[in-house]
Amino acid sequence: MTANDNLESRSQLVEETQIETCQARPITLGVVDIGHRERQYVNDALNRNRLSAGKYVGAFERRFAQEHGCRQAVACNSGTSALQVALAALKESRGWKDGDEVLVPALTFIATSNIVLYNGMVPKFVDVNPCTYNIDESLIESQITPRTRAIIPVHLFGLPCEMDPIGEIAARHGLEVIEDSCETMFAKYKGRSVGAFGALGCFSTYIAHLLVTGVGGLITTDDEELALLCRSLIAHGRDPIYLSIDDDKDVSDNQLREIISRRFSFVHLGFSYRITELEGALGLAQLERREEIIGQRCRNAKALSAYLRPFEEYLQLPSYPPYSDHSFMMYPIVAREPVEREELINFLEQHQIETRYMFPLLSQPVYRRLFGDIEKNFPEAQRLSRRGFYIGCHHRLTVEDMAHVADVFADYFRNRAGRVRGER
Ligand SMILES: Cc1ncc(COP(=O)(O)O)c(C=O)c1O
Repeated sequence: MTANDNLESRSQLVEETQIETCQARPITLGVVDIGHRERQYVNDALNRNRLSAGKYVGAFERRFAQEHGCRQAVACNSGTSALQVALAALKESRGWKDGDEVLVPALTFIATSNIVLYNGMVPKFVDVNPCTYNIDESLIESQITPRTRAIIPVHLFGLPCEMDPIGEIAARHGLEVIEDSCETMFAKYKGRSVGAFGALGCFSTYIAHLLVTGVGGLITTDDEELALLCRSLIAHGRDPIYLSIDDDKDVSDNQLREIISRRFSFVHLGFSYRITELEGALGLAQLERREEIIGQRCRNAKALSAYLRPFEEYLQLPSYPPYSDHSFMMYPIVAREPVEREELINFLEQHQIETRYMFPLLSQPVYRRLFGDIEKNFPEAQRLSRRGFYIGCHHRLTVEDMAHVADVFADYFRNRAGRVRGER
């Protein structure tokens, strides 16, 4: 079972009826919220007898690109495939070699660095900022070598990275930027949207993310050539003349002859990462509800921060600069010394508040096997992955639910105040 499978587990079990009737209901990380519009669009796609990408995927891509200030969005079947394809497209178009290096934060979901390995390249880790948990831009240059080709800043939990300095460093060293925006949508940094800074931006619509299509991802870009290459790469590397079953409709006889001669031709080493109209229909409906979805998350997060403020001696709460939005895919918390994170988390879970660790990465068994004992070289990532965790603040929760969460924290600190102060 992956961390992602875990993420969906209890979220899926929350019945809408339970949401409406219980007072202290489970505070899950995410929620499956299939509304009237989602059902309407999915039924329409089914009634049209069309499963391969068509009207709904196209509309979802166009609206998503527009919302993020980008010319193109390419839908695919996960955030991981979006990232893998984005890097593959740059590697192929820029002529990068196996063994070339890509900078990634030392604290992120494992897919960010896995996709560097899938591309035959080498992830080089950079420590993160102790307050925002995003890549520490002041440490990036020390990790650049003659083989560095790209930076993948990750907008963690809903908060954009410091894209101005990152862009300047990339320009100075001739590096490409791919944004891992799998946890952040619709958020602006100094007035510009995530997904519009790098050569390519990558998003996820997996369960418990901001927009949910079940499985799914998107790649945004302003570069039409890169977009076409990505479209080909997600469809087995097929000749771009025929990437959709609509591509041989309404064309002249000559064009049809040309298409027939090339439509079973594969010109790149591609993958099978397409989505269907069903995900497109869900995605479009969710996108049309974006204000409800993001707005309530922000209200919940703001309320929770206000309720938890009295416990700041024990808890590090989210903080972010005034020029950045935060889309609060999750609500991150760091247990300050000497609070015992495990004990606190167990208490929360006993009170039906779902938690996850804050992205231990370099201590993962598979990475210890691959890279050895390197976590100690990244003290902030190490601290956060040992002391950090996150809880849900999704749009089907209310400000009253957040008050309940704060009451549970208050109980914990009241009952265990002696232990927290180290009086054992
Ligand atoms: C930062 C980050 N990158 C990449 C991914 C991968 O997305 P997906 O699960 O859609 O493959 C996730 C998923 O949770 C993520 O949080």
